Amino acid sequence: MKILSIESSCDDTSIAVIEVHEDVQEVTILSHITSSQADLHTQYGGVFPMIAKREHAKNIVPILKQALIESNMSLEKTHTIDKSLIKNIPMIDAGMAEELCHYLATVDKPDIDYICVTYGPGLEMSLWVGINCAMALSHIWGIPLVPVNHMEGHIYSISVTGEKSFPLHTFTYPYLSLLISGGHTQLVLAPNKDEYTIIGNTKDDAVGEAFDKVARMIDLPYPGGPAISKLAKIGRQENVQPWVTLPRPMMHTPDYDFSFSGIKTAVMYALEKKVADSGALTDEDKIALAMEFENAVTEVIVKKLFKAVDEYQIEEIAVAGGVAANTYIQEQIKKHIEKEGYTTRVYFPDRSVTGDNALMIALAGYKNIKENKKFPQPIKATGTLKLQ
Ligand code: KG4
Ligand code: ZN
Repeated sequence: MKILSIESSCDDTSIAVIEVHEDVQEVTILSHITSSQADLHTQYGGVFPMIAKREHAKNIVPILKQALIESNMSLEKTHTIDKSLIKNIPMIDAGMAEELCHYLATVDKPDIDYICVTYGPGLEMSLWVGINCAMALSHIWGIPLVPVNHMEGHIYSISVTGEKSFPLHTFTYPYLSLLISGGHTQLVLAPNKDEYTIIGNTKDDAVGEAFDKVARMIDLPYPGGPAISKLAKIGRQENVQPWVTLPRPMMHTPDYDFSFSGIKTAVMYALEKKVADSGALTDEDKIALAMEFENAVTEVIVKKLFKAVDEYQIEEIAVAGGVAANTYIQEQIKKHIEKEGYTTRVYFPDRSVTGDNALMIALAGYKNIKENKKFPQPIKATGTLKLQ
């Protein structure tokens, strides 16, 4: 089975084409192209929705073209496109539609069985660009369209190894997903097939958002996670002593919820005091702060994760989302498993797919196709879509 997938929920425009060898449950990536807008959003310290939408609309057709060329599916054939097939698509970007029709009039229908597209959660303006492009392709090529929950995509990213071909992971139930990104901090329990319960959520900022905001306070570039993590690593290597102790919010509460805005506020006050007391912040001050921040966040995450592992007798843990790239968080989870003698297995995606990408959307889409899951049509961008 061949799948083309589209992801545009935030600031990455991404298209993948995969082939699933169903007899051996193996996937081959035929192409996977992602264009990041991170540089454009740096000046705002976060993603600016209007700009994100504009860039998606500008980038999506060239990326589609490149993805089809790389998969050897861009076979030249001049023909006429019936534009009336797409004229009823809501809010379709006129420029994108024109460019798409122009391109499709030059290539043959590719050998693709399904088109998968993210329909939420995310920025609705961004989601619509991917959905409208997917709808147009589906109408023009006559290929079925499968909507995919972005968070389910992150969960299924753990199969990805970094190789061109890799086996599909089959989860053992009950399993738990720790979804940590710029928009989410969730603990999702999957007690059995096709059932999700969000048992923990952030009360305020997502963990990645906290990384980004703290990074901004100490003049590090967006996205802040990698920058903070790099400084924290230097701090541990050089045994830098902390000058501030940050709170570990909600670490001992009986629920599975998180709160990170308190840490961020504590950082803000600590910085104000430090500058008032000793003038400007030194590089070593920044290193110590980054280390203490990463320690605080990690301790809370590890504590809550294993509280849930104990209560729900979890067999497997999937850690995914942008923040899953954090090597310190990964190490601390693995260390905890070893130290406490857990038999629970933990999976992290390859670093190439911790951030938003279309490959994970194709993988979650494939699972839904096989389970014959039904989705409401027509597809609507749903910014607050929940896993259920
Ligand atoms: O999943 P993602 O690409 O986009 C969202 O759906 O949010 O996650 C992006 C987030 C950003 O907040 C970024 O700072 C964070 O993931 N991030 C990290 C690391 N790499 C990316 N946070 C901590 N450590 C990292 N190494
Ligand atoms: Zn994401």
